[in-house]
Parts: sequence; C-alpha cells; structure tokens
Amino acid sequence: MKLYNLKDHNEQVSFAQAVKQGLGSQQGLFFPLELPEFELTDIDAMLEMDFVSRSSKILSAYIGDEIPPHQLAERVKAAFAFPAPVKAVSEDIACLELFHGPTLAFKDFGGRFMAQMLAYVSGSDDQITILTATSGDTGAAVAHAFYGMKNVRVVILYPQGKISPLQEKLFCTLGGNIETIAIDGDFDACQSLVKKAFDDRELKQAIGLNSANSINVSRLLAQICYYFEAVAQLPQEKRNQLVVSVPSGNFGDLTAGLLAKSLGLPIKRFIAATNANDTVPRFLDNGEWQPNLTVSTLSNAMDVSQPNNWPRVEELFRRKTWRLTDLAYGAVSDETTRAAMRELAEIGYISEPHAAIAWRLLRDQLHEGEYGLFLGTAHPAKFRENVEEILQQTLPLPPELAERAELPLLSHQMQAYFAALRAFLLK
Ligand SMILES: Cc1ncc(COP(=O)(O)O)c(C=O)c1O
Repeated sequence: MKLYNLKDHNEQVSFAQAVKQGLGSQQGLFFPLELPEFELTDIDAMLEMDFVSRSSKILSAYIGDEIPPHQLAERVKAAFAFPAPVKAVSEDIACLELFHGPTLAFKDFGGRFMAQMLAYVSGSDDQITILTATSGDTGAAVAHAFYGMKNVRVVILYPQGKISPLQEKLFCTLGGNIETIAIDGDFDACQSLVKKAFDDRELKQAIGLNSANSINVSRLLAQICYYFEAVAQLPQEKRNQLVVSVPSGNFGDLTAGLLAKSLGLPIKRFIAATNANDTVPRFLDNGEWQPNLTVSTLSNAMDVSQPNNWPRVEELFRRKTWRLTDLAYGAVSDETTRAAMRELAEIGYISEPHAAIAWRLLRDQLHEGEYGLFLGTAHPAKFRENVEEILQQTLPLPPELAERAELPLLSHQMQAYFAALRAFLLK
C-alpha cells in the first residue's frame, strides 16, 4: 500500500512507514494512493462472511501485499474480539453499537488494530515506548489496546484530579506494561510534556518513542470494517435505502464511512452530525471555512472546531468526483441533545449525548422509504453523571467498569517538569 502526504504529494510512504510515522512533513495527513473498489457480487458475498473474515478482506484490499493475508487475519482476530451489534430503535432507525469493547467506546476498534499493526511493522526486537497525554478516554483505549504486548511500554500522562474517577480506574489499574502518571497540572501541561519528549531526539532514539495518535491511518482503516458489519446485519430490503448519521468531532469516523462507500458499500447518504462546534456544517452551508473558538458542550468528545480529518474527507470527494453538496449535515445544541436523549428513552433506548445528536438529525432528515442508522460511539455509562441527571434514572455499571471500580490505582505522581519525565522514561 502506498500513501501520500496531503500537504506534499511527493512524499509517499508504505503502510508500515505511515503506521510508524503517524504524520508526514508539515504535519500532513497520509492518504491512500489507490482507492480499491469491490464488484457488487464481491460485496454481496462479503456481507455473508463473519466479521473477522470480512474485515480481513477489506483491510487486505487497502494494505495489499505488505502483510500476508493469513497474518493480517490473525491480527484482525486479536483486535476485533468483541461484537458491533445493530439494535433497532424504531421502525426505520437502528443504532450501530460500537461500545462493546474493553473501554466501551468505538475507539477500541481503531486503537486495538493500530496496536496490532504497530507491533507487526516494528519488528520483533524493537523496543517501542508509546507516550500519550489524555484527558480521559484516549488513555483508556490506548492502555487496553497495548496491554500485555511484548516489547511495548506504554506511558500515559493525565491531569491529576481532572478526569472522572471511573475513567481513572479504567486505565490506571492495569499495571504490567502500562504505566500511568498523574501530573500536577492540567491537560495542556501533560500535552506540553509529551511534545517536549518528541522534540528530544536523543530520548526518542533511546526508547523508540511513538505517539500512536488518532490520525494514524491504521485506525481509519479499522473503522471502515464496522460500516460493512452494520450493513451485513440489515435485511436485504433495507440495505439499498440506507442513510448513516455520524456523530463527528475530528471527522475520523465519517472519513472511514466514506471510505467504506468508496469500496462499494451501498450507503445512499451520510449525515455529518456535530454539536455547537459547527465549523463543518457552516462550511457545507456557505462554503466558508471559519472555525470559531471551541465551546464546551454535553457531547464533550466532539468539542472540536478545527477537525483534523477534514482534509481527508475533501480529498476523497475530489478523488471520487463526488459532490460535497451530497453530504448532509446538521448541528445540535445541548438543549436539543437533552430533549433527544429523553425522546429516545421514551421509545425504550438509553443513549448518551454523542449518539443522541446523530439520532436527532437522522430522525429529522430521513425520507419516506429510507432506513436510518446512527453510530453509538460510547456506552451511556461512560457519561453516567449527565445521562442520569438528564433521564432522572440510575444506570447500572457495565461489567468492564464495575470490575475495575474497586481495584487500587497504580499511578505515579509527578510535577509538570520535563526533567522528571525524561528521567522516568529512561529508567
Ligand atoms: C463518544 C464519541 N463520539 C464521537 C466522537 C467523534 O468521532 P470523530 O472524532 O471520529 O469525529 C468521539 C471522538 O472522540 C467520541 O469519543
């Protein structure tokens, strides 16, 4: 597989290189040089396959001969070890639930596949150190994805006292190759320490530093697979009139959905659903890219005003000669998000703010005869306080959270000094 840098088309790398490097020069995103397409008959046959076999075929179409199919299949099996069920919410709408992995969020798919790919392309004797800063969720997904992997040390920084106690329990109780550090400072202080480590060439070399961040192309490819899984679970008559609504922040999930369509998956229309951070809906409305200051909302994982995957969306539309005017969109306020969660609860479906935004726009924009699917990106219990307050009911803790809640925290504590972090990393 060859990929090019969107900021410098002459910079071309292999899949292995893109996985290891993350970003190209000038912080440019990598994008596939070839856009494979399946025949209609292939798609029909693939929709009959099980999740792991089908996903291996999809990923192989992109990755090509850099990873032999049987080895790729083994890695896919290890990464996708949990289901992505489609649950009917009403007669013509269903939710693709992506929160049945170990950290109860869609990030488990991309994070775990990236971990597998990074281990594969790094060679068995290379020591890798994954260093990342988290404001909560990413840390958990990264920690669980790399937990127990040979030759991989994971160090996660987080702001002490500024993430929820349950979030902290989810990734600071693992031990083994996962080391967590509570930094006396805020999230920006953690990020700045990580940045300094990456600027330190000697350190980088000595410990094989890698960021495993969310724009890594391996994550994106993994996310394509669950769109196919959703269609596979739908009855034939609903497959050809499918509208998919995607709760969007950095627009990685939507990019993956569009790549699934580009492979030939029959999706009639996508809805790009955002909260009040509505740079993309305004852009699609008036053609002007004018990010505002980011505002805090109930759907905080989507509080992004400069979505870093958007250049990939534009590139795909350009390459496929699709029209951006065909991309549906909408932005939902917190008040409407609350109302949407209550309406969903009334029809028997408990959801959380991110998915509720996607549902609301889907319900409003679905035409007669169409079938709607929205992505359930996180388990409602991950946003327990808000969900309980809005719905006025108590949520049971899912086992993944309940089993960690009583375990002791294994985190180190550290002042926000780079010298201290450097010494820790070199020890
Ligand atoms: C729960 C949840 N929903 C939706 C999103 C938005 O996904 P994306 O950034 O791929 O647009 C995120 C991103 O972190 C998330 O955590």
